[in-house]
Amino acid sequence: MDEIVVGIDVGTTKVCTLVGRVEEEAIRILGVGIEPSEGIRRGVIVDLATAAQAITRSVKKAEQTSGVEINAALVSLAGAHVSSINSRGVVGVAGEVIDEYDVARALDSARAVAIPHNREIIHIIQRGFVVDGQDGIQQPIGMHGFRLEVEAHIITAAAATVENLRQCVGAANVEVLQFVLNPLASGDVVLTDTERQMGVVVCDIGGGTTDLAMYVDDNIWHTMVLAVGGNHITADIAHGLRMPTPQAEEIKKQYGYALKSGVGSEEYFTVRPFGEEQPVQVNRRELAHIIEARVEEIFLMALQEIKRSGYDGLLPAGMVLTGGSSDLPGIRQLASQVLGLPVRTAKPDKLVGLVDKLSSPAYSTSVGLLQWAAAMQDEEMPSRRDRSRYRPKGESRMNMEPVKEWFKRLLP
Ligand SMILES: Nc1ncnc2c1ncn2[C@@H]1O[C@H](COP(=O)(O)OP(=O)(O)OP(=O)(O)O)[C@@H](O)[C@H]1O
Ligand SMILES: [Mg+2]
Repeated sequence: MDEIVVGIDVGTTKVCTLVGRVEEEAIRILGVGIEPSEGIRRGVIVDLATAAQAITRSVKKAEQTSGVEINAALVSLAGAHVSSINSRGVVGVAGEVIDEYDVARALDSARAVAIPHNREIIHIIQRGFVVDGQDGIQQPIGMHGFRLEVEAHIITAAAATVENLRQCVGAANVEVLQFVLNPLASGDVVLTDTERQMGVVVCDIGGGTTDLAMYVDDNIWHTMVLAVGGNHITADIAHGLRMPTPQAEEIKKQYGYALKSGVGSEEYFTVRPFGEEQPVQVNRRELAHIIEARVEEIFLMALQEIKRSGYDGLLPAGMVLTGGSSDLPGIRQLASQVLGLPVRTAKPDKLVGLVDKLSSPAYSTSVGLLQWAAAMQDEEMPSRRDRSRYRPKGESRMNMEPVKEWFKRLLP
């Protein structure tokens, strides 16, 4: 049977809903709904009603193009409220051979860390296992042993912020099957198996956030969300060249360059700043200077986070850049200079179906959500991915009806 999968990337600049069908070789894109975001800042909902409207429009569009009614979806999550910890779970093995149940119990024990009541667990990801003191084990099922330990990476988010997003998606009559942290969805799309094996960090620079995830030994070891992105570059340009934000955005996309040294000193373009009657000539190097300062700061923050994780020596494959802002010319060289690592940029490829709009680094997260959804259905034993949906029995899904009623009154 063909499986239909749906992902909604609720970004700071756009909401993108994708409907896909899982086929033998790839996921065929059946429906696309891209709408400008409203009511979202730095990855976080700041206006429930307008955000819900933007999400609803995006979902409707994807329904129309695909002819599929959308009831449930995977939804992206980002924002500075996300944080992560590593935790260890230990259990005695009941039989002689380790089975799925033992692994699930070990993960349950890893999640039993003190998490404040105002935080919600988004992902529990296994990083590796130790069996009877022997570490570095990737797949313990079927092994003999008495004592099973799991190293888990636990990602949590502010419960109220997550609830707001769930409400907004609920207002579009869509149930959130699972939230997926932005860089984990993007990482699924842009990283190669070799990179993940060797050690790599994926960096998704969007409009309001920069999302990082580190992979070592084919597992997710560390995740970070920084509350800066392309909108800050635009704001700097608007400020520096004294012009309205939409004009600054246009100029960034048309003439922007991330490296001052990469632009000739004789290159000029024409703008009309505030308070000027006549258009004025701006040196393109001046623009590059403004952009470079901000982008350099973003990579310095990323570097600081990478060092803080303690795994900075474990990234021979370097960094893979994606997200809309990675389209900025010169950004790869600047990243490589600041980080001292090899850097490449990447976008979704090998797509089939309605794909003409999606071949841009801005859609890595959206496409990644579909891949994540397909893997969730497919894998008997989700490895690299998430175990948080192995919830304790009795934990039920939220009743959406009151929320929907409340929103119906808000929407026009
Ligand atoms: N050619 C380009 N040059 C520079 N910046 C660009 C270019 N194209 C897009 N951008 C920037 O990319 C950003 C949008 O990226 P993206 O669509 O990945 O963000 P988002 O997913 O909506 O936001 P976030 O993930 O931060 O919540 C905007 O700031 C936009 O200015
Ligand atoms: Mg994004």
